[in-house]
Amino acid sequence: MTVYLNGRFMPIEEAKVPVLDRGFIFGDGVYEVIPVYSRRAFRMAEHLKRLQHSLDGIKLPNPHSEGEWIVILNEIIKRNTPEDQYLYLHITRGVAKRDHAFPKPPVPPTVFVLSNPLTTPPAEQLQNGISCITVVDNRWLRCDIKAIALLPNVLLRQAAVEAGCAEAILIRGDAFLTEGSSSNIFAVKNGTLLAPPKDNLMLPGITYDVILELAAANGIPFEVRRVSKAEVFSADELLLSSSTKEVLAITTLDGKPVGNGKPGAMFARLHPLYQTFKRDVMRK
Ligand code: PDD
Repeated sequence: MTVYLNGRFMPIEEAKVPVLDRGFIFGDGVYEVIPVYSRRAFRMAEHLKRLQHSLDGIKLPNPHSEGEWIVILNEIIKRNTPEDQYLYLHITRGVAKRDHAFPKPPVPPTVFVLSNPLTTPPAEQLQNGISCITVVDNRWLRCDIKAIALLPNVLLRQAAVEAGCAEAILIRGDAFLTEGSSSNIFAVKNGTLLAPPKDNLMLPGITYDVILELAAANGIPFEVRRVSKAEVFSADELLLSSSTKEVLAITTLDGKPVGNGKPGAMFARLHPLYQTFKRDVMRK
């Protein structure tokens, strides 16, 4: 496995970061996850735009131009074997004496890129859907930044795992749906897809955009608006999206069936649309 670290390509075993890296000490950095289909990065420009938004959010200058990123990412794709990969980009504020305030003068950022094989959800999950729990969204107010400081998300996902579930659905202020611990969540009511708005309380998912574009292009009614906690619990269907999970049906919530407890009509429409889109657009 070949990775990229601070200007050099190397085997992962050789990639080392000093212990005073602010990513290690403070979680002071941001990341991206980009799916690669048939050796083509999907929506590279959109992912790099979201990366820029995250960097702006933590006041860290982008170490590379878009053109430089494209060269680095394509080289990582080339140097790794799987046809389908996911790229993990990780940028921290660099190595400096421990002090919460930014290093003055600034130090070079740490830039790391990794490729992993991209595996799609197992047939069993597609057939039966997944189980989720609801949890209190106790994260900060800048969830639009893809921060490497993921402790809240880690703890919320672990709560799901300990309840025998695949994902935690986050409810903010005991009032409304934001997203999952590492995914976006949609509700379905009376044939309409309900999507929470892309504000500071959720990560603007690239897959979320694809789902809404597919809905718009195929005459599926959808509304982008706050989805109340009550609407989550009374939804006919709940769906999850992310770059690595694509689209999945949530069929059990807090131990009770969602709708009739089986993947529903909206999933039955969106999943094939997503697969066709993947074959005809993402892979080409
Ligand atoms: N996570 N919300 C959160 C909190 C996420 O971490 C993710 C993705 C998403 C979905 O975004 P996208 O559709 O662009 O993948 C929403 C990635 C997969 C991860 O952390 O591994």
